[in-house]
Amino acid sequence: MRILVLNGPNLNLLGQREPAIYGTTTLADLEALCRSEAERSGVTLGFAQSNQEGVLVDALHGAMEDQDGVILNAGAYTHTSVALRDAISAISIPVIELHLSNTHAREAFRHVSMIAPVCLGVIAGFGAQGYPLAVRAMADHLKAPAP
Ligand code: DQA
Repeated sequence: MRILVLNGPNLNLLGQREPAIYGTTTLADLEALCRSEAERSGVTLGFAQSNQEGVLVDALHGAMEDQDGVILNAGAYTHTSVALRDAISAISIPVIELHLSNTHAREAFRHVSMIAPVCLGVIAGFGAQGYPLAVRAMADHLKAPAP
């Protein structure tokens, strides 16, 4: 089973970006946490990041060819991108929406997710631990999909 962890805009700056909100964990640290969980769960992990909306759309399309599920932290595009929502709808594999912060406890514009209605589920507010949690959740789902 193959799972892609896809990260959107500004997440390349984790570690230095607004540490009071996002912590000091870097994207490389998150990848390591995901790889450890993938090993425990017996799945193969892909990990990518882009600041470009179209590149994220292309990555979702590509995932349909060679992945069984996607974990997507779409960053700010979560709240704005019909294109990402349509891409998720267009592909036939499950996508988990992931956020480090609890977006519902922040500004009102972050309470809206364009992508949540077309995702399998949402994990938000657990900081860095949300990443391995999402890998575990997707692995379990792929092994035994909930009804
Ligand atoms: C985020 C939350 C988004 O609202 C924000 O734009 C981000 C990060 C998170 O992981 O908490 O870039 O997706």
